Amino acid sequence: DEEKLKKSYIGSIDQGTTSTRFIIFDGIGQPVAQHQIEFTQMYPQSGWHEHDPKEIVTSVEQCIEKATQSFIDQGLQISDIKAVGITNQRETTVVWDTNTGEALYNAIAWPDTRTTGLVHKLKVKDGANKLHDICGLPLSTYPSSVKLVWLLKHVDAVRKAYDEARLSFGTIDTWLLYNLNGRDKGVFVTDATNASRTMFMNLHAVEYDNLLLNFFDLDRAKIRLPKIVPSSSPDAFGSLSSGPLKGLRITGCLGDQSAALVGQQGFSPGCAKNTYGTGCFLLYNVGEKPVISKHGLLATIAYDFGGKRKPVYALEGSIAVAGSGVKFLMNNLGFISRSEKISELAGSVKDNGGCIFVTAFSGLFAPYWIDDAQGTIFGITQFTERGHIARATLEATCFQTKAILDAMELDSGHKLAELAVDGGMSNSNLCMQTQANIIRIPVDRPAMRETTALGAAIAAGFAVGIWKEFDELKEINQKDRMVFVPDISKEKSAKMFKRWQRAVEMSRGWVD
Ligand code: G3P
Repeated sequence: DEEKLKKSYIGSIDQGTTSTRFIIFDGIGQPVAQHQIEFTQMYPQSGWHEHDPKEIVTSVEQCIEKATQSFIDQGLQISDIKAVGITNQRETTVVWDTNTGEALYNAIAWPDTRTTGLVHKLKVKDGANKLHDICGLPLSTYPSSVKLVWLLKHVDAVRKAYDEARLSFGTIDTWLLYNLNGRDKGVFVTDATNASRTMFMNLHAVEYDNLLLNFFDLDRAKIRLPKIVPSSSPDAFGSLSSGPLKGLRITGCLGDQSAALVGQQGFSPGCAKNTYGTGCFLLYNVGEKPVISKHGLLATIAYDFGGKRKPVYALEGSIAVAGSGVKFLMNNLGFISRSEKISELAGSVKDNGGCIFVTAFSGLFAPYWIDDAQGTIFGITQFTERGHIARATLEATCFQTKAILDAMELDSGHKLAELAVDGGMSNSNLCMQTQANIIRIPVDRPAMRETTALGAAIAAGFAVGIWKEFDELKEINQKDRMVFVPDISKEKSAKMFKRWQRAVEMSRGWVD
């Protein structure tokens, strides 16, 4: 009964790296009301990237308020909203005082590279070579673990709280759940997808692992780690304690890239999606057993719907810079006034004019893991215009996607037939056409690109019985998809990629 489904609404909090959204979906996956707020990005030193934990919570509360008002203004009933889901930027690390609930430092955001030196030291420490097989992640500046170690070493208040056994650690999901429930409720959980990004979780057992914690010198008696729970649950996440939706249950929680895979309905092994957000993340469903990559990819939990369902795993290719490259052209170089203008600027020239931009603002992530690379533009001449650099910025993400797909083919033994895409930069036809040209398989884009928020709504909806089987979702977001097929020769795209690979090699060794 479509009419009944339509009236079963679900709210979705999408707390991303640069903005927060709240979207209310109907039961057929269409957004009916939404609000978005961009929040402050702090770059106190080169390579440092922080967020104000309080501002993150406030931005969520404001988005809920505004979107709910628009829902009411349409004559819709709040009582028809059945549940709320949360999805969030992953790895970003918050520490707070267990007694007061106050954050002890800004959140260290996932692209932050202050830990480069620390990572070098950890790489040669005894036991470093055992970590990857246990947690699926390479030792790098990316996961939460090294951010926490940095905080313990450099921030007195954090060290003191640890010594006095009153330090709480969380990723953004945990911090939000703790605050949105009302701190006095003491909700202190994380879902399995988020936990798999900390480097503290044994990927096979879906539990914290002593070997990992010992490696980072963490004493469980001195630090509180959130309990790991499934991503979809009727009672693990509590409920909203204030605002217009006060009392509404939170029943879904997923890291944003997992949520996008769910939103794209990547439920079968072999399905993949690529989300072009602040960074860009390709997740490939490998089924109920993790595949530990030998070619520079991450192994991670794709989603865990709990109950009779086992956790599902993914291979992931993480690219640190996608939309943030566009923002860099806008905010730092003044090339454009709004992000959406990037396509127009890139389209003002017929090709990259020989420019390659290795957008290594956080070193290079998958599949390269070159932590001493820095952003470098190659091939500049008197002929170079802003359009060429804009084009090279978009192409950088497309080239890294190609490198990731090559690695995925080696790890999985399968060649992907087509790539589902979403996220801000996927709005650019030029960028998606370029992507198809470089990876030489069709690129398939849905009409409704808020798949991350949709995924969290799906996880929440499952827990309250709006859907029971994945099959019931199959109509969602299928209409008016657009498919981009390669329109340049194989030789030409191979030549472009080769030039990129050369540029990557030349961008090494810039961090002192
Ligand atoms: O791992 C970081 C990722 O979760 C951030 O996603 O969409 O904010 O770039 P996004």
